Amino acid sequence: MSEDFELPDDRHLAIRVMAAPADANADGDIFGGWIMSQVDIAGSIIARRRAQGRIVTVAVNAFQFRHPAFVGDLISCYAQVTRIGTTSLTVNVKAYAERYRNHQEIVHLTEADLTYVAVDDQRRPRPVPKDESR
Ligand SMILES: CC(C)(COP(=O)(O)OP(=O)(O)OC[C@H]1O[C@@H](n2cnc3c(N)ncnc32)[C@H](O)[C@@H]1OP(=O)(O)O)[C@@H](O)C(=O)NCCC(=O)NCCS
Repeated sequence: MSEDFELPDDRHLAIRVMAAPADANADGDIFGGWIMSQVDIAGSIIARRRAQGRIVTVAVNAFQFRHPAFVGDLISCYAQVTRIGTTSLTVNVKAYAERYRNHQEIVHLTEADLTYVAVDDQRRPRPVPKDESR
């Protein structure tokens, strides 16, 4: 079962990557862990920009796999900061797959919330800057 979606135009495209055979199991299904990695990378790009420097992933608060991904899917991860704390911030990431089978199909693969902590050179938590202009 699949749902057709439009790619969002109100969110930041953090990464777009093609799922390759090396990312799949023997049945050709893409590993969930590979998708989780792409989602973390996408979230971290947005978190790092907002935190204006080094960040680390402290928690994956929620992660839902809605549909499977396959070799050849073009995976797009859209990310949005949803919460800013003192030293932490939470990013919501949605991943979509574009594939061509008779017709173009866009499938909403995953939805996730990840929390990152801004850290200094000694890996100690530091405040997330108030300035949102960068
Ligand atoms: C992230 C890290 C620096 C936090 O250090 P810490 O001494 O626990 O810091 P604090 O207790 O002051 O927490 C810092 C912030 O993280 C938040 N936090 C800590 N644990 C959390 C969790 N499990 N879920 C959500 N937020 C969490 C705190 O609420 C706080 O946020 P705030 O300042 O906005 O209120 C430390 O735990 C660490 O280095 N972890 C490893 C990170 C890492 O290597 N990630 C990659 C894994 S491969």
